[in-house]
Amino acid sequence: MSVETIATQPFQDQKPGTSGLRKKVKVFKQPHYLENFVQCVFDTQRDCAEAPLVVGGDGRYYNRQAIQAILRIAAANGCARAILGQGGIFSTPAVSHLIRKHQARGGFVLSASHNPGGPDEDFGIKFNTPNGGPAAEKVTEAIYAASLHIHRYHTLNTPDIDLDQLGVTFVGDMQVDIIDPVSDHADLMEELFDFARIRALFQSGFRMCFDAMHAVTGPYAREILENRLGAPAGTVINGIPLEDFGHGHPDPNLVYAKELADRMFGPDAPDFGAASDGDGDRNMVLGRHFFVTPSDSLAVILANADLTPGYRNRVVGVARSMPTSQAADRVAAQLGLNCYETPTGWKFFGNLLDSGKITLCGEESFGTGSDHVREKDGLWAVLFWLDILAARQQSVADIVREHWRTYGRNYYTRHDYEAVDSESANRLADALRARMAALPNQQLGAYTVDYADDFRYLDPIDQSVSEKQGIRIGFKDGSRIVYRLSGTGTEGATLRVYIEAYQPDPAQHDLDPQQALAELIDIANSLAGIRERTGRDAPTVIT
Ligand code: G1P
Ligand code: ZN
Repeated sequence: MSVETIATQPFQDQKPGTSGLRKKVKVFKQPHYLENFVQCVFDTQRDCAEAPLVVGGDGRYYNRQAIQAILRIAAANGCARAILGQGGIFSTPAVSHLIRKHQARGGFVLSASHNPGGPDEDFGIKFNTPNGGPAAEKVTEAIYAASLHIHRYHTLNTPDIDLDQLGVTFVGDMQVDIIDPVSDHADLMEELFDFARIRALFQSGFRMCFDAMHAVTGPYAREILENRLGAPAGTVINGIPLEDFGHGHPDPNLVYAKELADRMFGPDAPDFGAASDGDGDRNMVLGRHFFVTPSDSLAVILANADLTPGYRNRVVGVARSMPTSQAADRVAAQLGLNCYETPTGWKFFGNLLDSGKITLCGEESFGTGSDHVREKDGLWAVLFWLDILAARQQSVADIVREHWRTYGRNYYTRHDYEAVDSESANRLADALRARMAALPNQQLGAYTVDYADDFRYLDPIDQSVSEKQGIRIGFKDGSRIVYRLSGTGTEGATLRVYIEAYQPDPAQHDLDPQQALAELIDIANSLAGIRERTGRDAPTVIT
């Protein structure tokens, strides 16, 4: 099989964002666009002749074409073996697990996560390194630098392979193992949680609804919840992955997982509800008529980890992304565990997990995970909750309320302004930065500013520094307002405003967060001049 070397030219827009290179499908379909990026990975990463490469995606539109192209380029670059999920499907946590299990040299994850899919929607590609996690910044920077100078890529002139046929096939000289995408991950879950106890819970009549949002977790949830744990058929809804997610927006929050939200807040609500996103790394959990914020979910999981077989007596610490509420910090302080604050994006947890400084980690954006893989893991979080529910035999609401009584409640909300004009968004951030120095000790309504800064992270393991990770305004009573511009959007800019207040008094724990945070929300809006600068009267999404 002779390698073809194709002449190409650099694109100037291949800088990876918070989680890989994410663009409209139309951008990816430009000749050589995907090929350039993949070749840059091979040009900058170490030799791949020995260990395998894991490849798979969330099944969205363009997944199959992209996989065929990647396999040819991998083979042309001397890769000896690839591991591929049947149908080109792997959830993101499953890729992470397989890279680790097979000591692979890395993997390609094809997804735009929770962004919609289809010919006019989004696609994405991300390279994960041998620890199973998203490439660290120095790797993505090297790939980006190469993309600015690339002038050729290597490929093969071979026919497409059949992605649906389990077993061994070849692309040129490269062996391709097409495997069941679900079973390895399901086995891993079975090692971490008490499946017998959860099975007994379902047998006792406990009812659950899992909304797979027509995305990748459908087959995983069916196998784990319905087949292995004996939940009744129909527990998983929207379980068939579709290329356009059924025209949906596969983001597990109360706005987009509407069918689930309606059920959980309806008259005959099940005991437990959960959803996951396009590529299966995010999760939302709900009790009957009760929403658990992701920040609280991380704190509850941390506080109850000793109840599960996989984490009993071995949790050493926790990390949360900077805008995530400080609820987990309170648990860590009480239990004497390590606690870290990292920039937004899962890649920043990698070094802490690899070096054993932390066991659990999470983000306010519906991401929770642990050292079992190096990605966030939607079904893992759902199973963690199921195991806690089975052990404690209490409702979700009772468990969370009890948690608040013990640790206090961190009221929390995030307001997103999507697709705003990029220049206006940058000007808004610059104006805030310009005011930062003058803010400390100012009185804003009932709140006194303690500090104002642009979050800078010094990685405690490799000493790398990440600047400008979000503008934080901290108040003397521990409340916070954080402003960030999204690094995952594909249309204009998305401004995220995160607002948090601590309430120790149990008599004040049952307020609606928007009410409890009303004054801080006003302060956040006026401080940044959101209405004037973006022309928006209200956020697009409130979580
Ligand atoms: C968003 C979330 C962030 C998460 C990322 C990938 O990034 O806010 O926590 O890691 O998606 O799922 P953002 O768009 O804010 O840059
Ligand atoms: Zn995702």
